Amino acid sequence: MTSIEATREAVAAARKAGLTVGLVPTMGALHDGHLSLIRAARPETGFVVVSIFVNPTQFGPKEDLSRYPRPFAEDVARCAEEKVDLILHPDPATMYPPGLQTYVEVTELQKGLCGATRPGHFRAVATVVLKLFNIVQPDIAYFGQKDAQQARVIEQMVSDLNVPVTIRVCPIVRAPDGLALSSRNQYLDPDQRRRATVLHEALAEAARAVAAGERDAEKLLRRMRERITATAGARLDYAVAVDAASLRPVPTVQGPTLFAMAVFFGTTRLIDNVVVGGE
Ligand code: PAJ
Repeated sequence: MTSIEATREAVAAARKAGLTVGLVPTMGALHDGHLSLIRAARPETGFVVVSIFVNPTQFGPKEDLSRYPRPFAEDVARCAEEKVDLILHPDPATMYPPGLQTYVEVTELQKGLCGATRPGHFRAVATVVLKLFNIVQPDIAYFGQKDAQQARVIEQMVSDLNVPVTIRVCPIVRAPDGLALSSRNQYLDPDQRRRATVLHEALAEAARAVAAGERDAEKLLRRMRERITATAGARLDYAVAVDAASLRPVPTVQGPTLFAMAVFFGTTRLIDNVVVGGE
């Protein structure tokens, strides 16, 4: 469906029939990471909605909006295989009629990590996700831990604004060699693709060191940064150790700690993370 009205009617009919409603917001180019969210929603909700909308406002002026992959027919086929009930695929003009002047800002959580490199990104994400919530009015919405900061921003928004939806954050799905699946992986040339496993390797090494008793976050980060710097074609955007809830930097690993990084290969920016110290 491309229309908000028609979507609302279909969801209302499902709800009238006693079904709970699940929403999986995506930008399409669906891979197994997205499918894992649909597979979490399918047994838990009676009516599964997947939104496919490449949200223009969350891309920076020098980012990849125009080349972002849009294999819509394949996405529809994947959704059909997963028994998705409704695909919401609105036009940008439907989501953003002229004159929009209301935005959602999660003022603290949007600042660091990816927010530092991508100003305005999380404001755009929070705004479009709240719009999707208001269009679909799901009981449960599903997000990936792959975008850890995004998941925290959405959780905080829902809590702060009393949005009546339950948020589920699902584990990161990886390729067999450890690279976190992403629609952007297809930008990588074969060399870059081979070397891109360094994100996961550096994070996994930090997690092993923490499990072995290391608590000094700066020491762990130094080692992570060294690994990226030593990788041909890789340019570190950031590597941080932050409290998993507040996303504020921590000097030592005590409670649940998010190690997160972003790395450029050419113009392609990859992110990955791991949470440690939660046991
Ligand atoms: P997109 O990048 O398409 O991702 C849609 C959802 O899939 C997000 O919740 C993301 O965290 C999750 N996801 C992506 N790769 C994953 C992986 N390897 N393992 C687990 N989950 C994964 O994130 C967005 O779209 C947009 O910002 C959106 C929320 C739709 C708002 O426009």
